[in-house]
Order: sequence, then structure tokens, then C-alpha cells
Amino acid sequence: MERWKTIIEPFRIHSVEPIRLTTVEERAAALERAGYNLFDIHADDVLIDLLTDSGTGAMSRDQWAGIQRGDESYAGSPSWFRFLHAVQHLFPFRHVIPTHQGRAAEKILFSVIGGPGKAIPNNTHFDTTRANVEFTGAEAVDLVIEEGRHPAAIHPFKGNMDLAALDAFIGERGAANVPAVFVTVTNNSGGGQPVSMANLRGVREICDRHGLPLFLDACRFAENAWFIHEREAGYGSIAVPDIVREMAALADGMTMSAKKDGLANIGGWLAVDDDELAERCRNLLILTEGFPTYGGLAGRDLEAIAQGLTEVVDEDYLRYRIRSTAYLGDALDASGIPVVKPIGGHAVYIDARALLPHIPPLEYPGQALATALYREGGIRGCEIGTVMFGRHPDGTESPAAMDLVRLAIPRRTYTQSHIDYTIEVVRWVAEHADDLRGFRIVEEPPQLRHFTARFEPL
Ligand SMILES: Cc1ncc(COP(=O)(O)O)c(C=O)c1O
Repeated sequence: MERWKTIIEPFRIHSVEPIRLTTVEERAAALERAGYNLFDIHADDVLIDLLTDSGTGAMSRDQWAGIQRGDESYAGSPSWFRFLHAVQHLFPFRHVIPTHQGRAAEKILFSVIGGPGKAIPNNTHFDTTRANVEFTGAEAVDLVIEEGRHPAAIHPFKGNMDLAALDAFIGERGAANVPAVFVTVTNNSGGGQPVSMANLRGVREICDRHGLPLFLDACRFAENAWFIHEREAGYGSIAVPDIVREMAALADGMTMSAKKDGLANIGGWLAVDDDELAERCRNLLILTEGFPTYGGLAGRDLEAIAQGLTEVVDEDYLRYRIRSTAYLGDALDASGIPVVKPIGGHAVYIDARALLPHIPPLEYPGQALATALYREGGIRGCEIGTVMFGRHPDGTESPAAMDLVRLAIPRRTYTQSHIDYTIEVVRWVAEHADDLRGFRIVEEPPQLRHFTARFEPL
């Protein structure tokens, strides 16, 4: 079947967006103005924007057509029903609560189930998930398998939950203090690594034994399903939508950011089976997001997501998506640049701690690498390490488990030559790694500091 090696984008380009070439001097000045925080750089000054795959993908012709069809009725819009059917076709939960993005779903859910003395286990919490858990006074606990903590360790499902650790943790804390178990598919903060169906089944069994609900943080559900299709025995001939439904059937609910595998620029939802929980969440939704048939979204957004959900499970799309991410990762790996392996679904993660051993974690090697990629080549990646996770609710700071730089690939947006350029820049920066220096933080907010902190080079 795979007769030709070239990765073919399964689409043609229909509308183009210019990107602006800048000089190293211009970018160095932009960095200084931004306090070396890449979130504070004007996007016009970025050449290849790999900051995130969230909301940055290109929508299809049919999604734009859906935008035109969007019905903005306050209550009971046909766009809402198209959205609801598209969600429940893949995730047949009884209640679907639309939100403006994933973190709004998290905020609502954790406001209801969180609180002091509670703990939420997850394979690895994403930053907004952790922050929303901790904001309620609850504890966010990461229990990914040991391999998932080592960038170079090879495992086909490196996002798997450590089942023994989960069982022991619930036993120690007492099920009454664990309002839910979460599994993030794919495991973004752990390298975009998938979770196997067998592992999900194992988590389900533990939840059943302790009488706990299981939630999916399902932002990249289709990419996870594709990895199951490709790597897990018995799933090679099962269609991706069926794999997704099987994942959903193991859970009691989900939080979702439609900015990832919804193929939309905005949106999300919370879905649950439990009627009483749904009612409490809907009451908060009305207070913070909007009426339950639009949540935080316009009718046109609901249409774009409904269409996106049909396109994201297309096998040609998923084959291209996963292969093109691996193309970047494999090229860096072949050049001796330490990357999280195997290559994940939506991003390539460079192990900055390994590449820059002369910069200690509390001098932020990920920040040093990310800013160098921007300065040298106009490539904007994202530090996922001690800047993002090093500050704790009690004010102390310690090194994160890993110091990574994530190059996240927006969906259907960049061509292979953009990626070839990226490979060339990363190689150059890696060859000059000894020249890079660390940073100190001169200003930071109490939560989610990576978005707004300001840095000074050491
Ligand atoms: C695993 C995971 N969960 C939750 C979120 C939050 O979603 P949003 O950015 O739509 O609020 C993200 C976003 O990147 C994510 O990757």
C-alpha cells in the first residue's frame, strides 16, 4: 500500500496566508522587547509558528461552508444539534456541555468535583488542567508509566497510566478523596504519547473496583486512536471511529478542546453520563459561558467543529498527520539531536536538558533553546519544562520532570519545505548549543507563569 515514500498532503491549498521573513537582528530586538517570552512576540515576526497546535490549524472548504451555515439562534439552534450529533456519534455520552475551549470545560468540572483535600490522578496533567485542579485547592497527581518520564525510552504507548501506582494511590488517599481519574489522550505534556486501549481498560477496571468515574482529556483523541490502529494488536483492521467509540465507552465523561482534534480554531466541551453532575455543571456553564445549547460558542463555531469531527477521523488525514510529524522528529533524531521517542502525534519534543547539559534546570534550558530557535530562524516553539511546571502552589520552585522544547505542528498548515527549513535551523542551533546561556525570571504571575513571565539572560 505504501508504494511511494513521499508524504503527500491529502489536500490542495485554496487560500494562502503570507508569512514575513525577518532578520536575526530584528528577531533579537523582538526578543528583548518581549522579555524573552515567546508568547509576547508579535506573530507577524514569526516565520514558522510551532508554538502550539491548538486552534492554529487550517480549516477545510467544508468547515468554511459550515461557518456560513451557522445559525445564531440563542436557544436550540440547528447548528447546536449538528454539533451535538457529531460529538455523540463519536462520544455517546448522555450530556454534552459546549464551552469556548478546553480549559473552560476543566474549570467547570473541577469547580464541581475538586476542592481542598481532593486529589485527581492523571497520566500527566496538561498545564491548564493542573492549574484548574490546583485552583480549587485539590492536588493534581501525575502517574504516567516509568518509560513516560524518560525522553529516550522507547515504548509504543508511552502515555500509559502506571496501573499499579494508580491503584496504590487510590488505596492510600481513599476513594472518597479522589473524585475522578483522568487519562489524557494523547499525553501532551509527556511528549504527545499515546495511551493503549489495554491500558484504558486497566484504568477502567481500577476505577470500577474503587467506584470512581473515569474521564478522558480527549483533545487529541483521533491521533491516539490512529496510534492504537497502527500499534496495538487486534486494532489494525478496526476503523478509527470505532476505536474512538471504544475509548469513549470505557469512560464516564470527557473534557475536550476542539482546537486540536476538532480541527477548529476555537471551541470545546465537557461531556458526562451522570445526570446530577451534568446539572451542576450546566448551572455553572450558564453563569460563566452561556446557555447550554451554545455554551461559549457562536453557531458558526459549532458548525465548524461538527464538520471537523468528521474530517479528523479520516484515515488519509491521520496517516499524513502522524507521518509528517514523524518526518521532522526522525530527521532531528538522525542528526543526533535528543528528542522524545518515539515521535508523538502532534509535536516533536526536543530534550533541552540533554542538549544543553551546561544549563541547570533552574536556569531554564528549554527557554534557552526555544529563544535560540526563534532568534536564529524565526521558529517559535514552546518550553515545556521548569518554566511551565517548576513553580508550586506553596511558592517553592523545583526542576520539572523534563525540560523539553515542543515544536507543535498546526494541522494542515505547513508544507514539507517549511519543515525542511525547520530541520535546518534546529540542526544549526544544536551545533552551536555550547554558546547558549540560561535565564533568570524577573517577573511572574502566581499561576501559569510561562504565559506572561519576563526573563533576563544570564
Ligand atoms: C491535553 C490538553 N488538555 C487541555 C488543554 C486546554 O485546552 P484549551 O487550550 O482549549 O483551553 C490542552 C491545550 O493545549 C491540552 O493539550
